[in-house]
Amino acid sequence: MLILGKEVSKQTREQLKIEVEEFKKQHGRIPCLSVIIVGEDPASQTYVKNKVLGCAEVGMKSLKYEFPNGTKQEDIADVIKTLSQDKNVDGILVQLPLPKGYDEKYLLDLIPEEKDVDGFCANNLGLLAMGTPRTISCTPFGVMKLLESTGVSLAGKNAVVIGRSNTVGKPMAMLLLNANCTVTVCHSKTQNIKEIASQADILVVAIGKPKFLKADMVKPGAIVIDVGINRVDGKLVGDVDFDEVEKKASFITPVPGGVGPMTISMLLYNTLMAAKSRV
Ligand code: GUN
Repeated sequence: MLILGKEVSKQTREQLKIEVEEFKKQHGRIPCLSVIIVGEDPASQTYVKNKVLGCAEVGMKSLKYEFPNGTKQEDIADVIKTLSQDKNVDGILVQLPLPKGYDEKYLLDLIPEEKDVDGFCANNLGLLAMGTPRTISCTPFGVMKLLESTGVSLAGKNAVVIGRSNTVGKPMAMLLLNANCTVTVCHSKTQNIKEIASQADILVVAIGKPKFLKADMVKPGAIVIDVGINRVDGKLVGDVDFDEVEKKASFITPVPGGVGPMTISMLLYNTLMAAKSRV
């Protein structure tokens, strides 16, 4: 069965719209997300455009700061520092990846943890690791919402996460662990991915390799979540070979229309939570 991220995302945004309106009435200001983008990467440009549109959709304010590749790092740092002090700004997001030559960690560390709506800072990741999360990274958070939408209980299930990035794989594994799954993380050096993946009741694939996950790596009846968004010959393709795997999975997310729309909805949710935490 298909997990329709678009639908779950729509419901989330309708609820957020109501809550944003309430926030405005109560506090006399509009929750505000600031987005920083450096360089001209077309995928990043599209993501940022959709983040700005998402804010408008739920009635939130957004500020976009665009810097050409080559801008001095300190100039970007200055903007982050100014936004950090600005009482009307609730969330600060630096779109990743940054072009070569920029120190990602240095810039992300400038974002105060209460405005870190991506949940990327060490404290937010650490709180998640301790099982007491505050801000949860948007993509893995969205995946949890999609898993919830299936109505399947997660406790005790074998979950396999393929990919170990700080932005998806690691927080994903911690969320599944917090939901009482037995979690295994596979990555580029894992020797026997096929063997491990085919034991999974829940499989999350986030490695950025088009159609990597084949049907022979999937246990019949598994829930398969495809985080990949790869452009192949002008078409969007996930990390899962959808046509093959769909026949074996009990639930599967499509690409596009699966995890993607949820990521932005959770970002909007995190921004509203950040606004509420600062009143
Ligand atoms: N690049 C790809 N996904 C993300 C995300 O969730 N947040 C940021 N800041 N950059 C990204």
